[in-house]
Amino acid sequence: MNSKKKLIAGNWKMNGRLAANEALLKALIAEIGNTACDVAVAVPAPYLAQVQSLAAGSGIAVAAQDVSQHEAGAYTGEISAAMLKDFGVCYVLVGHSERRQYHSETDVAVAEKTQRALAAGITPIVCVGETLQEREAGQTETVVKRQLAAVIHLNGHCISEVVVAYEPVWAIGTGRTASPEQAQAVHAVLRAQLSAASEHADRIRLLYGGSMNAGNAAQLLAQPDIDGGLVGGASLKASDFLQIIAAAC
Ligand code: 13P
Repeated sequence: MNSKKKLIAGNWKMNGRLAANEALLKALIAEIGNTACDVAVAVPAPYLAQVQSLAAGSGIAVAAQDVSQHEAGAYTGEISAAMLKDFGVCYVLVGHSERRQYHSETDVAVAEKTQRALAAGITPIVCVGETLQEREAGQTETVVKRQLAAVIHLNGHCISEVVVAYEPVWAIGTGRTASPEQAQAVHAVLRAQLSAASEHADRIRLLYGGSMNAGNAAQLLAQPDIDGGLVGGASLKASDFLQIIAAAC
């Protein structure tokens, strides 16, 4: 069931500057020790080199927040999976709701990005989640299953190579967290869908994201199908992020 190593990934979103990044990473590295779980920080692209250098040897993996669905070429402003690989990126967020919402990312684009990441040897963290309107209309299951279905059949790759993050849109940045029971219920749906698609579904880590903080992390992470967290706001404060990591280990 839940014997796999948990993953706590911080998503800095569009926050940070050179000096602040350095201070945050140094504070994390000073305290993190030999944590029993995997830890990553998803940083804005201009800071990948800085974070790669500061985090080297610390056990904190570098993650990116997005990747192009294209391999290379005339796509101004885009960043390819191969470029991310040059900076030691281990994970990349794919299909975050802020990308789906503000950049009109479709399920197809999310599936293509997932494939690009896998082809480059980067683990995609595929984000799914319903809006408040969808939840209130009783569509949660339908929405997350549709979003996950789009990435399940990956040409040449096994779905067991991805990480999935359930991030209810209504819980992101709102301080309104899904209850452990609400989150577990959706995770169980996702796990069943993955099990039907792959005999290795048990290996897939399912993260919860949405107002996870030092106070609620332990209860969320104790759920049988919650294998880690994708943490936004609380990943910007070393002490909060460290408490979440401690709750996972
Ligand atoms: P918050 O933790 O700030 O709600 O953000 C969650 C999120 O979107 C992580 O990707």
